Amino acid sequence: MQKLTGIKACVFDAYGTLFDVHSAVGKHRQRIGAKADQLSMLWRTKQLEYTWLRSLMGAYVEFWQVTQDGLDYAMATCSIDDTALRTDLMNAYLELDCYTEVKDTLAMLKHRGLKMAILSNGSPRMLAAAVESSGLGEYLDDTLSVDDVGIYKPDARVYQLACERLNVKPAEISFQSSNAWDAAGAAHFGMRVAWVNRFGQTRERLPGEPSAELKTLAELPGLVI
Ligand code: 2OP
Repeated sequence: MQKLTGIKACVFDAYGTLFDVHSAVGKHRQRIGAKADQLSMLWRTKQLEYTWLRSLMGAYVEFWQVTQDGLDYAMATCSIDDTALRTDLMNAYLELDCYTEVKDTLAMLKHRGLKMAILSNGSPRMLAAAVESSGLGEYLDDTLSVDDVGIYKPDARVYQLACERLNVKPAEISFQSSNAWDAAGAAHFGMRVAWVNRFGQTRERLPGEPSAELKTLAELPGLVI
């Protein structure tokens, strides 16, 4: 794989890339029963659809609200009517597990003197909680939220925010996302992109070609020089 040279900052998508979004339902699997996986997949799908649709409608609300709306849709579809479960699932979203390789990878890259940041749809409160609960804070220089621009990925203003805050050019950023459409968005904007294809998904037919495809973030320190 061709190395990424001239990188000054490593910027990470949060949900699905650092944090396992399905770990929220995973914590309450027994209570949910046979529909747990369907609920989790649908929750995530609707959450993302609502970000794109709200961006097109010019009707931004923060990610916490979008996440609740996605969950409400998914619970209704699965015929689950349980207010206490809904509260517990939302709270679990504040304490998602991070993938096993994340901490070591971030520590290694931080140690090399690269600027390290999250760039996410998540609202500042959600991101702060997830970073805190997974103990990633010491490896990050910044946690950037779309809330500062009031529109969701893949709007170019979101990727621009990272350049401005970190004071680097797009091509000096290695952006990591497991969300293929986010990887395409960042590449289309001009960042160098490592698509972390954790689940062996098919590549998107969208403008913006990732520079590299990884299985997990553990391959990143070997890619960025
Ligand atoms: C994030 O921005 C897209 O969920 C993804 O963290």
